[in-house]
Amino acid sequence: MILSGGEGTRLRPITHTSAKQLVPVANKPILFYGLESLREAGINDIGIIVGDTEDEIREAVGDGSAWGVEVTYIRQEAPLGLAHAVLTAADFLADTPFVMYLGDNLIKEGIAAFVDEFRRKDVDALILLAHVTEPQRFGVAKLDGTRIVELVEKPKDPPSDLALVGAYMFRPSILDASQAIKPSWRNELEITDAIQHLIDGGRRVEAHIIEGWWKDTGHLEDLLEANRMVLEGIEPRCEGSIDAASRVDGRVVVEEGAEVVRSNLRGPAIVGRDSRIVDSYIGPFTSIYYGVTVEGSELEHSIVMENSSIVNIPGRIEDSLIGKNVEITRAQTRPKTFRFVLGDNSRVGLI
Ligand code: DAU
Repeated sequence: MILSGGEGTRLRPITHTSAKQLVPVANKPILFYGLESLREAGINDIGIIVGDTEDEIREAVGDGSAWGVEVTYIRQEAPLGLAHAVLTAADFLADTPFVMYLGDNLIKEGIAAFVDEFRRKDVDALILLAHVTEPQRFGVAKLDGTRIVELVEKPKDPPSDLALVGAYMFRPSILDASQAIKPSWRNELEITDAIQHLIDGGRRVEAHIIEGWWKDTGHLEDLLEANRMVLEGIEPRCEGSIDAASRVDGRVVVEEGAEVVRSNLRGPAIVGRDSRIVDSYIGPFTSIYYGVTVEGSELEHSIVMENSSIVNIPGRIEDSLIGKNVEITRAQTRPKTFRFVLGDNSRVGLI
């Protein structure tokens, strides 16, 4: 089961209109990394929890055949918590063990090894944990050996630096536990409380601390870091065209139909399908999705989503997430004014 509902308040204004799980990381929607991880773990029957962005998720994922899996969409009436999502999916889950994967999470090593471990062990739940620097932003666990003894959601005073990673392995006992708990201070049925309920009832809940890289991409900084991490691993290739007046250093991917003219590309970076880069500089850790135009501008350490255009911008654009169909241009006529049409919660930094 993949959770792709929720509201994505921390990535507004992008998420006013779009699903946060579909923001591209190295030109691939985050959700697709989760789908691939489940398939690699041998899971072919996948339920996707959806909310208000259901249509967009359905359009992107379809029936799952592109991944060789079968996808069932499960509508959650409102984002009332991860344990509420479990209850919403009760019919789909039936009486089988399952993985619950949070659709905005990226786990570099995948989850196949943990799913294998879970299949071998006689435990009610296997939870992935990771050492983090800001545990108060996550669910946090206290361990006794490999057994979890206490779990708290976003604690002010964390009992450890071990955060819950967004992939959980459960047996059907989690359904009763989710039924038994009450909503938290943020009015959500918390999965941490449901797991705590299992522990308090004497059920066996084990933890596995992951050593590899993992990110919850709910914040801009985390999203850019995820983009960095995935771009680090790309293999250079050019399926588009790069003219003789352009220069390419390092690992750069230029996708089909993309055009690079009189520009300097410094990898790791990716230029998506049918995008045009003209008289520009594209610096390291930049992902440009499809149908984008960058002309007479400099861009670095950023994600640009589909069909946007950035033309004749005098300063370098950095550390930015630019949504779909966005236009950033420089006024050519007098008066030299700034003209904005910005959505709610937009952020603009000027020099
Ligand atoms: O990323 C790991 C963290 O994820 C854990 O450490 C926390 O214990 C866990 O509660 C969760 O915290 P977040 O506050 O980051 O969860 P978020 O609201 O971002 O939801 C995670 C995903 O689940 C996201 O893709 C949206 C989806 N979702 C969320 C809720 C609350 C749903 O589909 N339905 C929901 O009701």
